[in-house]
Amino acid sequence: MCGIVGYTGLRDAYPIVIKGLKRLEYRGYDSTGVALMSDTLRVYKKMGKVASLEEITLGKELGGNTGIGHTRWATHGEPSDRNAHPHLSASGKLAMIHNGIIENYGQLKQELINKGYQLKSDTDTEVLLNFIEEIKNNNACSLEEAIRIALKRVTGTYVILLIDSEMPDTIIAARKGSPLVIGIGKGEHFLGSDASPMLEYTKEVVYVNDYELAIVKPQELILKNLGNERLTPYVQKLDIELAAIEKGGYEHFMLKEIFEQPKTIFDCLRGRLHADTGTITLSGIEQYSKALQKANRIVMIACGTSWHAGLTAEYIFEECCRLNVEVEYASEFRYRNPVIHPGDIILAISQSGETADTLVAIENAKAKGAIILGVVNVVGSSIARMSHAGAYTHAGPEIGVASTKAFTAQLAVLTMIAFKIGQLRNTISQERLSALLHELEAIPAKVEKILSYVEPIKKIAKQYAQARDFLYLGRGYNFPVALEGALKLKEISYIHAEGYPAAEMKHGPIALVDEQLPVVVVATRDSYHEKVLSNMQEIKARKGRVIGIITEEDTAALELCEAALHVPAADEMLAPMLNVIPLQLLAYYIGVEKGCDVDKPRNLAKSVTVE
Ligand code: F6R
Repeated sequence: MCGIVGYTGLRDAYPIVIKGLKRLEYRGYDSTGVALMSDTLRVYKKMGKVASLEEITLGKELGGNTGIGHTRWATHGEPSDRNAHPHLSASGKLAMIHNGIIENYGQLKQELINKGYQLKSDTDTEVLLNFIEEIKNNNACSLEEAIRIALKRVTGTYVILLIDSEMPDTIIAARKGSPLVIGIGKGEHFLGSDASPMLEYTKEVVYVNDYELAIVKPQELILKNLGNERLTPYVQKLDIELAAIEKGGYEHFMLKEIFEQPKTIFDCLRGRLHADTGTITLSGIEQYSKALQKANRIVMIACGTSWHAGLTAEYIFEECCRLNVEVEYASEFRYRNPVIHPGDIILAISQSGETADTLVAIENAKAKGAIILGVVNVVGSSIARMSHAGAYTHAGPEIGVASTKAFTAQLAVLTMIAFKIGQLRNTISQERLSALLHELEAIPAKVEKILSYVEPIKKIAKQYAQARDFLYLGRGYNFPVALEGALKLKEISYIHAEGYPAAEMKHGPIALVDEQLPVVVVATRDSYHEKVLSNMQEIKARKGRVIGIITEEDTAALELCEAALHVPAADEMLAPMLNVIPLQLLAYYIGVEKGCDVDKPRNLAKSVTVE
C-alpha cells in the first residue's frame, strides 16, 4: 500500500514525480503529496487522487531538481490533507514519506510528547520523522546516522524517503518489508515502490533489500546496511516495455487486462507446455524434482484472488498428484503455529509478490525448513526473491486494482506444476496428461471466443445492476470460480455478493432466495453437472433469478436460466480459466453501469504491503 516516488538529477523533479505517482496510484489514492527541494524545501499535499494535487499546485513554485512524492492508502489517521505525506519535521528542515506501518509508534510518540513535541497529524510517519530528527539533534550526528539509530528502535514495516534541506540534492531511503526500487540514470536517480515510475528513463535498476539504507545523489548511489557497512548495489535489467503499463485505447486498465488474457495465458504456457511430446518444462522448479516426487504435503499460501487460484489448484493437485494439499489464507497461517516439517512444500501465490501477510507466512515456513516455491507475477519482487525457486506467471504488469489476468495466469502455472508433479510421481497416466496438455494449449483460443460475446454480457449487466445482493454458486472446480466472481462484483460495483458451494446452499443461503435475488450459477458440463442443474431447479422453484454460466449448446441448463452466458466446452480441470472470464466482464460492466471507478475501487489498494 502507498506508492512512493523520488528523483534527484538535473531535470525538474515535479513532472517526473507526478507522472510516477499516477503510475503508482493503484497502490492507494486516499491522498497525494510532493516535497521539492530547490533553494527552499516546499511541500504540497492534498486529500484525494493525484489530480487533486495537480489542481492545488497550479501556478505554484514547482522548481527543484530533487523531489519525493507519495500516494497514500490510509492506515494511521483518516484520509485528510493533514495526514497526507510528505510530513515535515518540527524544525521544518526534513521532509519524509513512508509506506508501511510503524507498530511501536505509540511508544515513540509518547517519548516525543514527553519532550514537548507537538505533532500535527495522526500518522506514525510524522512520529518516526521527528524521532529521527530528535536523535540527529541530540547526538549531533549526520541524518544517515540518526536514521540508522532510529530504525534499530522501530518495529513494523517501512520504506522511507527523506530530504534534508541541508543536503539539497540527496534523498536518503531505507526499507524493511515494503518494496523499493532505485533506477540508475546518467547523472540522475529515480526511486519508486515499483519500476513503473522510471520505465521511460532507465532500464537499469537496483532492488533494495530489507535493512538496507541508500544515500542517493545525482551522480552516486551508496548502499549500506544498518551496521554502516557499504554494500555493492546489484544492478538488474528491466524487461518491461512502457506500452505494458498504458491503457492502449481501452477505457479502463481492468478491461484491457481482461482482454489481454488470451495473450497472457499463451505467454505463460509458451516454452513450458509441449503438447506434442507430452511434457512440461518448468526450469525454475526442476531442481526440486526429487523433493516434489517425495513430498507428502503441499501447503498453498495466498490472499484474495490468489487464494482463489490456490483453492482451484487444490482440486487439480489432488486429482493429478494424489498429495495432501492445504490452502491457507496467509494472514491466518502466519499467526497460527502450523505444523511444518522439513521438506514440506509451500507454494506461495501472489500477483504483486509484495503482500505482507504472504511474505511473513513464507518467512515463518522457511525458518521451519519448508521448501518455498513462488508463483509470482512481478519479477524481482520480495516473494520472488524470498522463494527457493518458482515459476513466474508472465502476465505483465497488472494495474487495475481488481485482479483478472493474474488469476488466469496463476491457474495456468499451477495447472502446469500439478501436471509436472503428477508426471514425476506417476500419479497421472501419460495418455490423460497428453490429452490435458492439448486441451490446455487450446485455452487461449477459447478465451478469445468468450471475449467476443461481450454484447450479451453488457445487456445482462444493465438488467441486473440495480440488485442489492448477488449469490454465486459453483461446485468442484467451479466453487472457487464462484468465490472469485463474487469477489470481483463486490470490489468493482460495491454490491454485496456471496460465493458458496452449490450444494451448501441448502444449509443456509437458500433462505435469501426470492424474486429479487440474482443467483449466478457456474454450471458448465462437468462431473457435477446434474447435481448443479438440480440446485438451479431449487432456486427457480423459489423464484430466484438464475444467471447461468453454461456450456455452449447445453439446452437443459439454458432452460433453467433467466439469463445465460456461454463458454466453450473444456475438460473440467481447465474450465475455471474459461468460466471466470464472463464473471470478470459481468462485474466490470455492472461497475461501469453504476458509475464506479472500476480501476480504483474505494478503500482498496493493489499491493497490500501492510498486514
Ligand atoms: C482482488 C485482489 C486481491 C489480491 C490480494 C493478494 O481482485 O486483487 O484480493 O488478490 O490482495 O494480492 P497478491 O496476489 O498481490 O498477493
